[in-house]
Amino acid sequence: MADCVARPAVSPQGIDTTDRRHSALIRITHWINTASFLMLLVSGVAILLAQPALFWGETGFFGDPSLINLPLGQNEAQTSWGRSLHFLGGWIWIINGGIYILSGLVTRHFQKDFLPERNQIALTTVREILSNQSLFRKSSIEEFYTYNLVQRLAYLTAAFLLAPLTIASGLAMSPGLVAVMPGLVEAFGGYQSAHTVHFFAMGLLVVFFVVHVAMVTLRGFLPRMRGMVSGRIAS
Ligand code: HEM
Repeated sequence: MADCVARPAVSPQGIDTTDRRHSALIRITHWINTASFLMLLVSGVAILLAQPALFWGETGFFGDPSLINLPLGQNEAQTSWGRSLHFLGGWIWIINGGIYILSGLVTRHFQKDFLPERNQIALTTVREILSNQSLFRKSSIEEFYTYNLVQRLAYLTAAFLLAPLTIASGLAMSPGLVAVMPGLVEAFGGYQSAHTVHFFAMGLLVVFFVVHVAMVTLRGFLPRMRGMVSGRIAS
């Protein structure tokens, strides 16, 4: 008689490859995060073009001494749609990110999957992961089901340092919010300082984004993408 009970596909390492890799909530918030991040990046550049320079302190206008003059052509025509899209993308990013962080705290996802184990924290582990031999090798089945030390540190930095800093410095530039919470912009040392911090925090998130996509591609694009789209690594 045919065996109609689906048997778990257990790997030699004892991993059930039919198991869900990521919960539906993580997958949905991950892709909304990616879409809204790209909206923010494109619209952020459009806004920056109106005055492509970075200042420190409260004010900074054309002709004032700047920290950095960015090598971008000045163009005020992109500001209007840029601001609308930035506002929309920003709120989607904040609400979606808030749901991801809250649910991760409640389910202890960050504690279980992001916090490195004590015996993992070593410079030699980082060196090993970043060595040519490891970077250009497709992951073993075990590695598809966990995050290595470098991934954990990168995800923790992006979610708990760079994203909150980008959001706080962005909100510090909102005249409506600053009117009721002046301490927000004061904490950054002025409007232009908040703008400069916002630019660099976002810049580091762009570096994270590029390296993250490169690592996913190098370490097994299809299985990892399957995991983040359908939830399952095995096809
Ligand atoms: C700014 C944009 C992005 C951010 C902030 C981001 C962040 C993250 C984070 C925090 C995780 C871990 C999820 C968790 O377990 O809670 C993750 C996993 C993942 N991301 Fe992204 N991501 C971004 C864009 C992308 C893009 C564009 C791709 C597609 C190429 C991608 C593909 C993946 C995959 C496949 C995983 C699972 C990795 C694995 O199983 O080892 N991500 N991402």
